[in-house]
Amino acid sequence: MKDLILNVQNEIAAFAITDNQSLEAFRIYFLGSKGKTKELFGELKSVPNEQKKEVGQQLNELRKTAEDKFELFKESLASSQEDANSLDLSRPGDSDEIGARHPLSLVRSEIIEIFSRIGYTVSEGPEIEDDWHNFSALNFPPEHPARDMQDTFFIEKGENEMALRTHTSSVQVRVMENSTPPIRTISPGRVYRNEAISARAHCFFHQVEGLYIDKNVSFADLKQTLLYFAQELFGDKAQIRMRPSYFPFTEPSAEVDVSCTICNSKGCNVCKYSGWLEILGCGMVDPNVLEACGIDSKVYSGFAFGMGIERIAQLKYKVNDLRLYSENDVRFLKQFTPGI
Ligand code: PHE
Repeated sequence: MKDLILNVQNEIAAFAITDNQSLEAFRIYFLGSKGKTKELFGELKSVPNEQKKEVGQQLNELRKTAEDKFELFKESLASSQEDANSLDLSRPGDSDEIGARHPLSLVRSEIIEIFSRIGYTVSEGPEIEDDWHNFSALNFPPEHPARDMQDTFFIEKGENEMALRTHTSSVQVRVMENSTPPIRTISPGRVYRNEAISARAHCFFHQVEGLYIDKNVSFADLKQTLLYFAQELFGDKAQIRMRPSYFPFTEPSAEVDVSCTICNSKGCNVCKYSGWLEILGCGMVDPNVLEACGIDSKVYSGFAFGMGIERIAQLKYKVNDLRLYSENDVRFLKQFTPGI
């Protein structure tokens, strides 16, 4: 009897149910009134009394196995039938969502494009820098406050001082050390400063810095290059003005403002009613920096400039909170690629 039960068990497992017909055949063969389980139950009376309980249990399990398989296939056949019935080929398809470019990537690409049109190459360098490339070669005196813990994230203090770069001027030092003029390059990249995060400041942001070194490079070249840049980026009517400033690595140095593109210089709350927006710092490369990088300052001169990409994107797209750039809210990010 046990063998018979086992055989039927195997038969149940092997029976292939592929459609409603084979499902019905399965039901009749195993669970019908003349089916296998009924037949075996009929033979229970010939089993010796002391085995009846055990065999009875086995038969119940057998019937349950057949019933479970039947129910399972019944349901899955019914639901696939439903799918087939509800297939409506005239319905519009599900469109795939297309990703958008990050506003900072868009602005960075635009800046790179503008400078590449006048012969600038792109240089990159490490985000973890030593003291020499981030500070010393750039004429920062040892006691300069920018080296202070307030502004710089130090990774290692002491002799082998390492820090997260605070500007991409460090990349320009590397370029000057490794090539001979003429040099025309921009260095886009992420920089870090130890600042409390708010709408107007972040502990990291992005810069594009530029460097031009050749014989007879003058302040007039710098001014015209920046005017060209401002007009390419903000439109033909954009004007620039320069205000004297100080950076350890440039002499003379200046801050550059662009005429307010939001109010056409009439005065608004973005330009604080001055008609001008500050966009970058610049100056003639200090001879000390050229010499530190192995360039003869009696033969060569050059200019450098640096701007924050977030700042430019803020003016272009009127974004008033810096934190939005790194929060990855898709609703924010989507807005800058037309057609999405
Ligand atoms: N490195 C400066 C900064 O981080 C920007 C700058 C670059 C200024 C080159 C002058 C010349 O703010």
